Amino acid sequence: MLRARIAGTGMCVPDRVVTNADMTQWMDTTDEWIQQRTGIRERRWVEPGQGPRDLAQGATLAALEDAGLDVSNVDCILLATLSAQHDFPGTSFFLHEAIDAGDIPCIDLRAQCSGFLYALQMADALIVARRYHRVLVVGCEVHSTGLDISTEGRDISVIFGDGAGAVLLEGSEAEDGPGLLEVRVHAEGKHARKLWTESPSSAEPSRLTHEMIDDRRIFPVMDGRFVFKHAVTRMPEVLLETLSAASVKLEDIDLFLFHQANLRINEFVASKLNIPESKIMNNIQRLGNCSAGALPILLAEASRGGRLEPGQLVSLTAFGSGFTWGSAVIRWG
Ligand code: COA
Repeated sequence: MLRARIAGTGMCVPDRVVTNADMTQWMDTTDEWIQQRTGIRERRWVEPGQGPRDLAQGATLAALEDAGLDVSNVDCILLATLSAQHDFPGTSFFLHEAIDAGDIPCIDLRAQCSGFLYALQMADALIVARRYHRVLVVGCEVHSTGLDISTEGRDISVIFGDGAGAVLLEGSEAEDGPGLLEVRVHAEGKHARKLWTESPSSAEPSRLTHEMIDDRRIFPVMDGRFVFKHAVTRMPEVLLETLSAASVKLEDIDLFLFHQANLRINEFVASKLNIPESKIMNNIQRLGNCSAGALPILLAEASRGGRLEPGQLVSLTAFGSGFTWGSAVIRWG
């Protein structure tokens, strides 16, 4: 049976640490408020001159090294992001250039915080259909250059961090061997405006106007409580759906990785499903919410930090703008 297995993981976050104390210089907030509501102590933000391409490149090279392979072994690149290097054509093409990927195809995929899982599902389908043998999946985000760091934008700006993670997936024939057992993804477009950046917009007579900037419509906004409520409902739902489709029991999962949007969301999901703390890993305290980058970064940290042994089962679950949500279950090795 052909399965997509993870041959290597990698991550890259900027060196610049932005603490909650730093935030208090720009907006009316406190370290206590941020930690209490979100669990975040600090996040990484890019330095001037550093962009999505650089983080994606760092994560990719680390994943290739981990797999013991080089770019000539990659057949296709899928890159999930909501914060493109350039809106047109995106980020993956600049990554392609940076790693000298010849003429292999690359695709930008937009599913926000669930982007990595959407990309994983597509990579899996491409591998199992024998279209490509090795697919590089990257989740990459630079939020910091597009945030309203005044008091007006404080609810969302304290949450976001910059970072990229990558995995190299390859076809593996071993009977009952390691690899992706199941990925399920969903969307509910009617809630798209609950967490979004309205402008620039190609639906407007002029895509970007001074008025949009003056009205601060170029910054992300969210209905935080609405998002929270949906996240804590959809995440357990899709996690269980995915395990059931893979015929895996909840208690057989060795490690649960949740999207890093808010530590309180993850605590809520864990208590709803009775998952012991020892089976959960979070890094939002150090990195904030890196959207599409969050899960592959967490996976790279789990792999490098000795949290995953060959044969173990890992469950990944996310929820985000769109709304989108999804879950995957992987046999490690
Ligand atoms: N510092 C201090 N006060 C803040 C603040 C900040 N950074 N951000 C908001 N506040 C204030 C609000 O202005 C509000 O004040 P008011 O009562 O005087 O109007 C108060 O805190 C409560 O705001 P509210 O938005 O109701 O707080 P909350 O308990 O819902 O927590 C979030 C806000 C953002 C932490 C929470 O809603 C959340 O995590 N939502 C989900 C986020 C998420 O998952 N996003 C997905 C990204 S992919």
